[in-house]
Amino acid sequence: MRIYKTKDYDALSRKAASVIAAQVTLKPDSVLGLATGSSPLGTYKYLIERFKDGELDFSEVKTANLDEYRGLTRENDQSYYYFMYHNLFQHININMGNTNIPDGTTSDAKAEAARYDQVIRGLGGVDLQLLGLGHNGHIGFNEPSDYFAMGTHCVDLQPSTIEANKRFFASIDDVPKQAFTMGIGTIMAARKILLIVSGNEKAQILYDALCGPVTSHVPASILQMHPNVIVVADEAALSKFNL
Ligand code: F6R
Repeated sequence: MRIYKTKDYDALSRKAASVIAAQVTLKPDSVLGLATGSSPLGTYKYLIERFKDGELDFSEVKTANLDEYRGLTRENDQSYYYFMYHNLFQHININMGNTNIPDGTTSDAKAEAARYDQVIRGLGGVDLQLLGLGHNGHIGFNEPSDYFAMGTHCVDLQPSTIEANKRFFASIDDVPKQAFTMGIGTIMAARKILLIVSGNEKAQILYDALCGPVTSHVPASILQMHPNVIVVADEAALSKFNL
């Protein structure tokens, strides 16, 4: 595991974009596993900038997003499809046919989970998986639980996650109660993982995830077992580390 400490969120975003840019430069048809939420917004901003500067070409890149709320259509401005389209895809030369996000509207959750795993297998797996870190240690929407879920599945979101995400919705009642997420097995199968973490409020959970015991009660702790993890975090998030 390699840990890069940056001064602040902006520097973190620039660094994370550089890691992704290097991946796409070295392998133009890379499969990128992507995340939503606040953490990757700056990273996407810098990737767009590099594309506009002519430094990056996404025409052969394929993507698979980590997760999607259950019950939201693509047009819903809180769906992760909408997020990805507006914060990244529409600004770069990616072929939308090469982008993949679980379908939150499907009624058969098991079938959708199996379809999504098949999509990822069909892509040949993920080359570089971008991850944020939940306040409770979740990655994707793999919430703390008694076991590590392997493949894509539909989860009941924990009250703390609903609380953390209510800032994006008109009211807490509008936050979906379920989501589709890649499983821990799917995430761990990525050839490289890039974890980005910012802010003081994530300092303790980042420390627990990287230095504490590996346990499904802190899902991100499983990353200690992955052979190729890059962590990019700001000083505030790394304040519990002696670095
Ligand atoms: C989003 C995702 C989540 C977030 C996590 C952190 O696709 O999978 O695990 O990465 O909830 O969210 P932010 O970045 O908003 O703090």
